[in-house]
Amino acid sequence: MKRHTLALLGSALLAGIAGGCAPVPPAEQAALPGVDVAAARSLAMRNNCLRCHGMTKHKEGPTYAEVAAEYRAKPDAENRLYEHLTSGKGKVMPDGHVEHHKTISNRRPEEIRNLVRWVLAQ
Ligand code: HEC
Repeated sequence: MKRHTLALLGSALLAGIAGGCAPVPPAEQAALPGVDVAAARSLAMRNNCLRCHGMTKHKEGPTYAEVAAEYRAKPDAENRLYEHLTSGKGKVMPDGHVEHHKTISNRRPEEIRNLVRWVLAQ
């Protein structure tokens, strides 16, 4: 019986690792009560968001800490970022060409809002 439980636990762990979802430290989840951190991270990974955005390390796009700092005080921050991620609106870059931001592949509004809240909490 005990052996069986262990085997089950082992395969669940392996499935987690193979799926690329590192466990979220409990303290990180506890600090963000309104956000499902694991779901937000996994959605960001599946959409390659983290290729262009670091949490604090600057890549092609602004860091999520910068985005959060810029948007946090705005009353409609969540809606504006939601719109940003679902509309793929173009933005004029410093050199004058227009770049369309990646749109998110997920169509479930609640999951996208969860991701936006996670970004805003950085
Ligand atoms: C190919 C690189 C690239 C990918 C992939 C990418 N972004 Fe971006 N992102 C950028 C750049 C560049 C900017 C700044 C220009 C702009 O706002 O469009 C930006 C801006 C943003 C902003 C700030 C918007 C604002 O109005 O200031 C947010 C939030 C954001 N990205 C989230 C995401 C999320 C979430 C994903 C995954 C679904 C993602 N990005 C995927 C490059 C990328």
